[in-house]
Amino acid sequence: MIGLTTRVLGKKVIYFQEISSTNEYAKNIAMNEEEGTVIVADIQSRGHGRKARMWVSPKGGLWMSVILKPKLHPEHLTKLVFIGALAVVETLEAFGIEAKIKWPNDVLIEGKKVCGILAEGKYSESEIDYVVLGIGLNVNIDKNDLPENIRMHSISLKEVLGAEIPIEEVFKVLIRRLEHWYAVFKEEKYEDILQKWREYAILGRKVRIIREEGEIEGVALGVDELGALIVETSTGKREKIIYGDVSLRYA
Ligand code: ATP
Ligand code: BTN
Repeated sequence: MIGLTTRVLGKKVIYFQEISSTNEYAKNIAMNEEEGTVIVADIQSRGHGRKARMWVSPKGGLWMSVILKPKLHPEHLTKLVFIGALAVVETLEAFGIEAKIKWPNDVLIEGKKVCGILAEGKYSESEIDYVVLGIGLNVNIDKNDLPENIRMHSISLKEVLGAEIPIEEVFKVLIRRLEHWYAVFKEEKYEDILQKWREYAILGRKVRIIREEGEIEGVALGVDELGALIVETSTGKREKIIYGDVSLRYA
């Protein structure tokens, strides 16, 4: 056993050598599980990001999902993605690596994606039944483990450090940081989360937002209290971009 010291998150850990997707598994069991249960796998055969886009998950990565049941209004959900990103950035910091957050759900090192976060769940207009917070972190991944088109935009801890690090060590630190931020979230100290998030986020840069209703170009100024991105266009108009199926590109 890996000996976690956390009290809620990771109280129960379900481990698979190989699974289709830890998020899919977690969603299937979430209604009957206590909050804090973590699903982790060495390999995912059908790992995914938003809108079923593929998340390539060979051996060497940390592929995990955490079941959460906060008794809060669903409007706060984006901040769960934010605490995931914060926990990852702090974990990387603990291993001497500087990382940045790309709104809404990516963690980058030197502009390349090292981690993707995906929150999925079941909720009504007023209540959250559960949220599955999926985190995919490229720990000991080699460039040639990933397909050509993804290789160019991605990076791993092994590449940065020039050596492998035990995935369990990364997992332990990550769960600890996540437990800390989830406690802050449950105490509804949202400004603490947003303030820290802004410190780590890539802001002040020109961005292009791609969404179904059309594209928007402007400067990413920050986020509002619900985590929507505030973009100032060339005409000086401020637009709020809500987390959903939108893609952000740095111009
Ligand atoms: P977008 O790039 O459109 O903003 P996104 O970054 O939020 O989207 P998703 O749309 O959820 O991500 O899809 C995941 C994307 O992550 C895939 O399109 C793929 O390019 C990339 N990807 C897949 N596997 C890995 C991996 N192991 N490491 C880094 N990037 C990956
Ligand atoms: C993204 O980049 O937008 C999100 C990627 C999320 C990947 C993780 S890996 C663990 C969990 N299981 C999945 O199928 N997806 C998430």
